[in-house]
Amino acid sequence: MSINLERWSTDAERDAIVAALNPPSAEAKPDSPEDAAAKEILKTACTTCHDLKRVTEAQFTRQKWMETISNMREFFGAKFPDQQVPPLVNFLAKTQGPGPRADSPMAALAAAIGRAPTIGFIWTNDRSGYSVKYAYRTSLTDGMERIILASNRRLTMPGVQQGGSENPSESFTVIEIRIDRNGSGEAKASFDTPVVVQPEPRTLVLENYAATRVLLREVRRQDSIAVGQR
Ligand code: HEC
Repeated sequence: MSINLERWSTDAERDAIVAALNPPSAEAKPDSPEDAAAKEILKTACTTCHDLKRVTEAQFTRQKWMETISNMREFFGAKFPDQQVPPLVNFLAKTQGPGPRADSPMAALAAAIGRAPTIGFIWTNDRSGYSVKYAYRTSLTDGMERIILASNRRLTMPGVQQGGSENPSESFTVIEIRIDRNGSGEAKASFDTPVVVQPEPRTLVLENYAATRVLLREVRRQDSIAVGQR
C-alpha cells in the first residue's frame, strides 16, 4: 500500500474538519427563528398526551413526519396553528430523519471530510484508490512524527478485517501513522477506536492509539510518500 500526498491540509481545512467533530461552542450558535418556533411547539403542543421522548425516538422521512403530525392533529386533537406545521416538519425532517442523526458528531465529521478537497491518494495492494481529505503532521516528544490522514471512504483491504465494533457505521477512515527519527514506523486506523479531537495542536487523532491494532507495519517515509506493508 502506498500513500501519496500532494500537500498537507491548510489550517483552514483542518479547522473545518475538526470543528465538525468538536464545535468551538455549539451553544453560541442561536437557533433560527423557525427552529426556535419548532422547538417551542414540541415542548408545548407535543407533550400533552405523551412525553417528548415519543417524538425524539422517532426517525422519519419528511413525508412520514407530515403524516405523523397531521395524524396528531386530526385523529388525536393536538392543537396548534396551521402555519406552524411547515416549520415543525422542516425541523423534524432535518434533525430526525432516517439514517444517522444529523446532529450526531460522527455524521457531521463524515460530511466535513467529504467536503474537503482531495490532497492525495491512498493506494491499497489491490489497486483501489482512496482520496485523502485530511493530512496533518505533528511531532511527538521523542522525535517521533505523527501523521493523521482521513479518507472519505471506509478503507477495505484484502485480509484486513475491519468489523470494528466501535464505529460500525462510519463511512470514513482516519489513519494515524507514527514514524520514528529514522523514517520508519507503523499505522493504525479508526476501525477499532473512536476518533477524537486533540486540543494542542488541534487535530483529529485516534482516541486510544496505544491499545489499537496495527494496520500497517514497516511504514516508511519517502519525502512525501509513506509506504507500508502489512
Ligand atoms: C392529543 C394527544 C396528542 C398530542 C397533542 C400529540 N400526540 Fe403524538 N401521539 C399520540 C398518540 C395517542 C400516539 C400513539 C399513536 C399510535 O401509537 O398509533 C402518538 C404517537 C406519536 C408518535 C409515534 C408514532 C409512531 O408511528 O411511532 C410520534 C412520533 C408523535 N406522536 C409525535 C407527536 C408530535 C410531533 C406532536 C406535536 C406536534 C404530538 N405527537 C402531539 C397523541 C398525541
